[in-house]
Amino acid sequence: MKMTTKKPAPAKTPAMKVEYSYLGRQFADIEGTLGDIRALVKTGDFTLGAPVREFERRFAEAIGSRFAVGVGSGTDALFLSLKALGVGAGDEVITAANTFVATAGAIANTGARVVFVDCNDRFVIDPSKIEAAVTKKTKALLPVHWGGQPADMDAVLKIAARYKLPVVEDACQSIGAAVGGRKCGTMGISAGFSLHPLKNLNVWGDGGIITTDSEATRNQLRLLRNHGMSNRDEYAFYAYNSRLDSLQAVVGNRLINDFEWITEARIKNARKLDAGLASLSKHVALPRRDHKERHVYHLYQFLAKDRDALLAHLLENGIDAKIHYPRPLHLQPASRALGYKAGDFPVAEAQAKATITLPAHQHLTDDEVQYMIGRVKEFYS
Ligand SMILES: Cc1ncc(COP(=O)(O)O)c(C=O)c1O
Repeated sequence: MKMTTKKPAPAKTPAMKVEYSYLGRQFADIEGTLGDIRALVKTGDFTLGAPVREFERRFAEAIGSRFAVGVGSGTDALFLSLKALGVGAGDEVITAANTFVATAGAIANTGARVVFVDCNDRFVIDPSKIEAAVTKKTKALLPVHWGGQPADMDAVLKIAARYKLPVVEDACQSIGAAVGGRKCGTMGISAGFSLHPLKNLNVWGDGGIITTDSEATRNQLRLLRNHGMSNRDEYAFYAYNSRLDSLQAVVGNRLINDFEWITEARIKNARKLDAGLASLSKHVALPRRDHKERHVYHLYQFLAKDRDALLAHLLENGIDAKIHYPRPLHLQPASRALGYKAGDFPVAEAQAKATITLPAHQHLTDDEVQYMIGRVKEFYS
């Protein structure tokens, strides 16, 4: 049979490529880290070894918490934090509807029910809607410092105190963020951070870490992450195997040296983007910035008119823009059993339809930032 093949239109070659991932540039300078890994391999100190203890100490110092406990991922950091509070079947945990699936997954995997609350114009849980979600079964609040932006913690903590509820912070995207001078990771009973390769402070695989000021919580978390082992021959309870790998801690110990620079570089890029997009207020709405916050821009996110067409325009022009996320969690198949429906969380639903994320990572050049601003302006011109 003769096939007629239509020639595809020649793809336009973009003038510039702006990648979302910065790992290629991070890997340009890896000899020191590889040397550290070689040294570790020679010692065989692979599980909960000296690099993990060092990373925990340095991470706690960077955040300003008394303790840090390295675990297998950000998801496990949240899950184990909830387990340390005794959260389980029959309980409810309140979180934001506009988070990554792992927040809700961590709650659900304890056996507790996930209770969503809508977000506000800062893209974080709306504190004015939390109280209506509190029931006798509520066991904890799990606010998310979304995208590097601290939740409205003064209000969240007031509600928590009123109902005597512990707060676990989902700080997975927000290492180094602060509000009113208080760092994310120091305000709840504990906080979970992700060290996933695309996070502001990353390792080269999965990794997570929990901060806490409570010695009892620290001790419980150490048992929870390591089979409940009080020592080699004694097991306090059945638990989990979720340890930060020594190899990953070696990477973390290198990158944590750059952490302030990384954070400041992201903030600087975001400020340039804010300034560049300011003239487009008819088309683009930035999240409301709180003058008390230190937003660390894991995500540089805004709401855009004709979002899908803008996304296509940016991708066509070599800009690796993304959507975080197109469908809010309560409308995902995973949440079906919770019984939510469209219209339950109108702000999260409206944001999901309009949100777009531009690269803002620490290795962007000024030319790349200006190029992105230029392409967004061009789209709306
Ligand atoms: C808000 C939020 N919570 C939890 C997680 C889970 O972290 P991890 O991927 O390290 O398990 C992530 C990761 O992307 C996240 O963005």
